[in-house]
Amino acid sequence: MKITVIGAGNMGGALIKGWAKAAQAGKADLDITLTAHTQQTLDKFSTLYPELHTLLNNREAVKDADIVVLAVKPWLIDSVVAEIADNLDGKIVVSVAANARNERINIYAMPNIGAEFGQSMTFIERNDQNSIIAVEELFSLVGSVMVVDQKHMGAGMMMAGCGIAYVMRFLRAMMEGGVEMGFYPKEAQQIAMQTMEGAITLLQETGLHPEAAIDKVTTPGGVTIKGLNELDHAGFNSAVIRCLKAGLK
Ligand SMILES: NC(=O)c1ccc[n+]([C@@H]2O[C@H](COP(=O)([O-])OP(=O)(O)OC[C@H]3O[C@@H](n4cnc5c(N)ncnc54)[C@H](OP(=O)(O)O)[C@@H]3O)[C@@H](O)[C@H]2O)c1
Repeated sequence: MKITVIGAGNMGGALIKGWAKAAQAGKADLDITLTAHTQQTLDKFSTLYPELHTLLNNREAVKDADIVVLAVKPWLIDSVVAEIADNLDGKIVVSVAANARNERINIYAMPNIGAEFGQSMTFIERNDQNSIIAVEELFSLVGSVMVVDQKHMGAGMMMAGCGIAYVMRFLRAMMEGGVEMGFYPKEAQQIAMQTMEGAITLLQETGLHPEAAIDKVTTPGGVTIKGLNELDHAGFNSAVIRCLKAGLK
């Protein structure tokens, strides 16, 4: 399958690297072309993955593609689509841009930068086009995929696309607490990351609800409940809910 990714920044770049790794691992037969605004960006990818085709010319880059993935900033979507429109017949056009619509786009997808490591949580907007199956397969190569109605795309973006940033803030807060209690930042980061990984693995392996897992570490009258109640008094749950809803239109 021939894929062209227009825009090789944080998101496009993560997808390109994830797909390049999947192709190297023999998970799919992908022929990947990418474009960017500057040669400097393209050179970084050719050095890492010499098998990729890199071009500064978007029109040329989409000519032979089966699937074109638009990964430029939302305000550039219309001009990029206008630029390549003549070369899009018979191709599936996918956009990962947040809150940008264009009639030439067939499928809207919302991945996250975990794609680079095969760990994206990607939302694909449900529609009746047959092409959605090919797009689902493509994004499944770089993580989990959920097909949702248009009304849930914004929530998906906030929880998973932006969610990476929110999880980082929680980690940083844990680290700051750890440093105040006497750990070096590197040690505090290792502790926070390993604890988060352990918590996630616990839920994945047991299928437990988070509150049931909390019961496992909470002794009546013990120290865990004191910390949990401090979080409640400070409005932690409410802050997280408000954070997720803040970006919805
Ligand atoms: N970042 C995320 O976590 C995330 C998650 C989900 C969705 N998204 C969506 O992904 C899109 C890109 O975001 P980003 O964070 O990846 O932005 P970014 O890091 O700024 O990357 C934008 C890329 O577009 C390239 N570019 C600019 N103008 C171009 C043109 N005319 N033709 C071809 N390429 C062009 C840039 O090239 P140069 O590198 O040469 O300047 C750069 O590689 C946005 O629409 C965003 O909503 C982002």
